[in-house]
Amino acid sequence: MAEPTQARPKGTLDFVPPDAERKHHVESVFRILARRYAFQEIVTPVFEHTEVFVKSSGAASDVVTKEMYSFQDRAGRDLTLRPEGTPGVVRAVLENRVRLPARLYYIGPYFRYGRPQKGRYREFNQLGLEALGEATPMTDAELIYFGDEFFRDLGIVDLTTRLNSIGCRECRPAYRAELVGFLEQHRDKLCDDCRVRLERNPLRVFDCKNATCHRVVGDAPKPRAFLCADCGRHFEGVTTALERLGLKYELDDRLVRGLDYYNRTTFEYVSGRLGAQDSLGGGGRYDYLVAGFGGPETPATGLAIGLERTMLAMPDPGKPARRRLAFVVWMTEAERAAAWDLVDRLRAEGIPTLMDYDADRPKRQFKSADAAGAACCVIIGPDELAHGMYSVKDLASGEQSRVPHDLIVPQVRAMLRD
Ligand code: HAM
Repeated sequence: MAEPTQARPKGTLDFVPPDAERKHHVESVFRILARRYAFQEIVTPVFEHTEVFVKSSGAASDVVTKEMYSFQDRAGRDLTLRPEGTPGVVRAVLENRVRLPARLYYIGPYFRYGRPQKGRYREFNQLGLEALGEATPMTDAELIYFGDEFFRDLGIVDLTTRLNSIGCRECRPAYRAELVGFLEQHRDKLCDDCRVRLERNPLRVFDCKNATCHRVVGDAPKPRAFLCADCGRHFEGVTTALERLGLKYELDDRLVRGLDYYNRTTFEYVSGRLGAQDSLGGGGRYDYLVAGFGGPETPATGLAIGLERTMLAMPDPGKPARRRLAFVVWMTEAERAAAWDLVDRLRAEGIPTLMDYDADRPKRQFKSADAAGAACCVIIGPDELAHGMYSVKDLASGEQSRVPHDLIVPQVRAMLRD
């Protein structure tokens, strides 16, 4: 169906003011926290060879089979807009011989061709962490705790952390056989997709949103009941660490995650404020992925947080009445040059400042200040100029006072609540 070309493509978002600032705020909270946990930034291309995702996210995963934006470039290369961050990071680490162990974080846009709805977009942003070369359950617990701390920093309180373990290469075959046996008995109740999943990757049936499939897997054998001794110890290590950190979590037998590279720990953060697309973020361990890309055996664990869903779950900031902006106003032509100098000075101090260069009289300048949403005006008239003062007007309350030149910067800062 043709879409109007003057509207944004379906499933994309515009961040208009003040949302773009809120987006920056979320990103900078993430960045500061990531650095505090000793993660360094990595930036990888927005598109990769399609094969990078097929061999890691999983040839049978929904992301790869249904949701990728794949295309051929003019030279016939098969390329895909990245649907997630982990495969590109692993590829880049190996290609650039990044020294391991490495703790890496990333922020950027991702693309999935899903059915758009609240919290699900075709272009969305992720904030991600990958810890490569760390086998200890402490790292899993640390990442889970990181996410919780990040959401708390943003004022998100209505949050549940779900946790599971899906075992390893040693214990999964026995579990898989058991699960397939069970699902075979209920094959007639499964949806068409799940019948295919049953052959190719039976764990995926746990992800199915179809109500009947959901009921069927309710009675299916669960991965945690089949963990080998090592996986059992690892899982206990994670839960013990989380308890020591004082983090509350819920065990979730169905949490297998929608991507194929996971083993052992899987986790997800769920918000009560979001409706159907309620997963704010998630992750888990992926000890085989680096070797799968031809690298050395490297245990790894990571998480990714959805930026748009995070913004939806954040407390509503309300509509800010005024912007963090100072507006300089002159009364007569004689103060125009001084006003200009003051704009320069305030900006040099890091204070967002505007003046109306075209104005011919003060009334119009006050109108411009109001239209720009400024929080305060700094006024220079003949009297102020003669006495080395400025007048400062709070545009929300209408209060006005006089301030000597050398105190103008702290005064404006206070009014902008800097
Ligand atoms: P994921 O669970 O597929 O994991 O995505 C992580 C988060 O990205 C989701 O919880 C959600 O908040 C957000 N997200 C995913 N798809 C969409 C969408 N269509 N629209 C809006 N938000 C979305 C991963 O991507 C893994 N790479 C995480 C990871 C990192 N595992 C290990 N390391």
